[in-house]
Amino acid sequence: MAFNKRVKIKTILDQNPIGSELTIMGWVRTKRSNKNVTFIAMNDGSVITNYQVVADPNLISEDVLKKCSTGACLKITGTVVESQGSGQASELNAISIEVLGEADPEKYPLQPKKHSLEFLREIAHLRMRTNTFGAVFRVRHALAFAVHQYFNNKGFFYIHTPIITASDAEGAGETFKVTTLDIANPPRTEEGAVDFKQDFFEREANLTVSGQLEGELAAMALSEIYTFGPTFRAENSNTTRHLAEFWMIEPEMAFYDAEDNADLAEDFLKYLIQYALENCMEDLKFLESRLLDEEKSKPADQRSELGLIDKLKFVLENEFVRITYTEAIEILKRSKPNQKKKFQYLIEEWGADLQSEHERYLVEKHFKKPVILTDYPKEIKSFYMRQNEDGKTVAAMDILFPGIGEIVGGSQREERMDVLLKRMEEMNIPTEEMWWFLDTRRFGSTPHAGFGLGFERMVQFVTGMGNIRDVIAFPRTPGNAEF
Ligand code: 4AD
Ligand code: MG
Repeated sequence: MAFNKRVKIKTILDQNPIGSELTIMGWVRTKRSNKNVTFIAMNDGSVITNYQVVADPNLISEDVLKKCSTGACLKITGTVVESQGSGQASELNAISIEVLGEADPEKYPLQPKKHSLEFLREIAHLRMRTNTFGAVFRVRHALAFAVHQYFNNKGFFYIHTPIITASDAEGAGETFKVTTLDIANPPRTEEGAVDFKQDFFEREANLTVSGQLEGELAAMALSEIYTFGPTFRAENSNTTRHLAEFWMIEPEMAFYDAEDNADLAEDFLKYLIQYALENCMEDLKFLESRLLDEEKSKPADQRSELGLIDKLKFVLENEFVRITYTEAIEILKRSKPNQKKKFQYLIEEWGADLQSEHERYLVEKHFKKPVILTDYPKEIKSFYMRQNEDGKTVAAMDILFPGIGEIVGGSQREERMDVLLKRMEEMNIPTEEMWWFLDTRRFGSTPHAGFGLGFERMVQFVTGMGNIRDVIAFPRTPGNAEF
């Protein structure tokens, strides 16, 4: 038998093959013994449920049973029998057990008890072996798969935009530099500046903050495209919503205006939620019960009204609210927390940038629904957004989700060469360096639009995890790049 001729626990649970002799491989979650029998709960990651193995000490040596401790990796051959106990349809009567990898019980950090998420972050190399992280990463996988399925079904093409670029698409200057120069002793120009002409790319380069600009180039040929890749931002924000390395999905569509863009975004978000409900129910049920436990320790007025699954269904079944920035400012000005000076940043006049406290007020207190906010002042948005007739606002769109705040940012793009050039000059965006981007407006320009979905924020919403560090395998945040 080839080593990998094993049956996944998920397959056994799905098919319930009573009477079959088969082999499973996985890691011990718990072991308990009495004089006559040892029960081993096995997990191989294919499904949240542990599978019970029954070992008879007359068949399996004491030495082997001793090594079957929490965390050890085992290969077990046995017969599937109807379960004696309740809670499972079948169990495995062990015929032989091979210990593939021991886990010293004195040293293994993941004992079968409740560990805090903070502690588990310190052992991120092992935390995927817990129920919570197993569930999170199975759901994350399902959502990534659903992203590709959604766009493929709609005839969008997946473009791999570059990770290393020379542009700062968002113009926010929060880039990580990429260089092979000796940083202790870089070559200098006559004026004393670092001479990037001698660097690998013969110019300054950085990690991408967004695939959008290259995505626009592709949309100007393939009509409807999307990117789905890692993005990097050196913003020093230590929040539960920010990572220095995160994944973003960016569709870009020729012949779409702002309304088409919002329609697509709402449909896409609902598709992802629907997909999770149809394909990840067991994991979602576990995550829901985990959240309920967590909420018990909160004061009653801070507990959420809906459980995780009802919250997901609620978003599916309701239309997102669509309002303009101007309308939102009016609501916020009149709001209680603004009147009573409870907001950290008070909303006094039109033009103010919205902070997450304002976004969350709109979504969680005022509308109690996802909100699509449109037509922001041009001063607080990127250079590429299309200017509206009023001369003050741009065709921007942010989608705000309960518990998350901004989950999507996007816009209709400025396709008019003269308007775009003027705006870039006003905002000190180097137009010569961006000749290739501007060429799309020179040759065959057309109205087009797109948006970016922060993938981890979406995974947070669907799994109910409160901290973005707990929905990516190895989070990168300020001061943090272990593993
Ligand atoms: O709003 P942002 O900055 O938009 C763009 O990058 C556009 N180029 C997208 C486009 O139109 N193609 O970022 C988009 C989304 C945000 O709404 C948020 O969900 C997520 O990316 N995001 C982050 N997620 C985790 N950590 C960070 N530091 C993030 N910054 C943005
Ligand atoms: Mg944004």
